[in-house]
Amino acid sequence: MERSKPWDSDQITRDYFDSLLVEMRHIDAVIPSTKFELYGETFDTPVMMAALSHLNNIRENGMVEMARGAHAANAVNWVGMCDEAELEAITATGARTICIIKPYADNDYIFRRIEYAERCGVLAVGMDIDHAFGADGKYDVVLGEKMKPKSLPELREFIKSTKLPFIIKGVLSGQDAYKALEAGAKGIVVSHHHGIMSYAVPPLFILPQIAKVINQQIPVFVDCGIMSGMDVFKALALGADAVSVGRAVMEPLRNNGSEGVRDKIVKMTEELAGVMARTCSRDIRNIDPTVIRHRNGW
Ligand SMILES: Cc1cc2nc3c(=O)[nH]c(=O)nc-3n(C[C@H](O)[C@H](O)[C@H](O)COP(=O)(O)O)c2cc1C
Repeated sequence: MERSKPWDSDQITRDYFDSLLVEMRHIDAVIPSTKFELYGETFDTPVMMAALSHLNNIRENGMVEMARGAHAANAVNWVGMCDEAELEAITATGARTICIIKPYADNDYIFRRIEYAERCGVLAVGMDIDHAFGADGKYDVVLGEKMKPKSLPELREFIKSTKLPFIIKGVLSGQDAYKALEAGAKGIVVSHHHGIMSYAVPPLFILPQIAKVINQQIPVFVDCGIMSGMDVFKALALGADAVSVGRAVMEPLRNNGSEGVRDKIVKMTEELAGVMARTCSRDIRNIDPTVIRHRNGW
């Protein structure tokens, strides 16, 4: 394959997915279950929506349509930057939603956002800690709002302020995984935020190391470049509890709204089940990591 942009983290991530091969194991195999339990609730699939935002340029009412699609597929919905009215409309669809709040410089504003998300009845809240800096090493400014990196004590305060599970999104090192645990996070998302930095390690490359640090104390989620049920399988096999899918649902959302989103989740879940069946994986908690082989190591 010609590598047109060797620095591009999305491309590196795709190459890494494609370097992972899968053994087949048929003896004693069963019809697999893709049921997924999270924070005391049961979903039909570990394929979740990514924390997206500003989908109105993809489709009118895009965020709400996405939530409807996730609800119809009994999948977990995530939402990123949005205003209060939008969050209310999203949760009103019935979709069990995780609300990711930006690392705003103004911590009081963050506390207010957490409180508002609680009132909307979300499943969990969290923060995309990887959106604090711009590429120039200065604090990022998103739609006029100033961001700031958060310290461990600050994260502890956010987490202590809510009864909801708090998820730290944008963990891409064992060190941050360890700090997330220290802070009291109830979940992490292994992610490079669709290539926010060049040459970022692929989430699946670092995932086994992070999963070892987390040691099943809290759920580990993964996103970035997941396009198919096979990609989902590889993530689960390497230590993820579930995955989030963003850009792969954009086209279905554009073309068919909530039905497109639902159909895409169902299709990816079926593809996942197909690989689980052929690897003797009875449910998503029982996928043997040794089925994964690294092409470069053969
Ligand atoms: C249009 C768009 C908007 C996004 N908005 C947010 C956001 O507000 N908060 C956030 O944490 N991540 C946001 N993300 C990042 C996604 O949650 C996800 O980390 C990233 O897209 C990688 O997943 P993917 O490759 O499946 O798209 C956004 C991504 C896209 C494409």
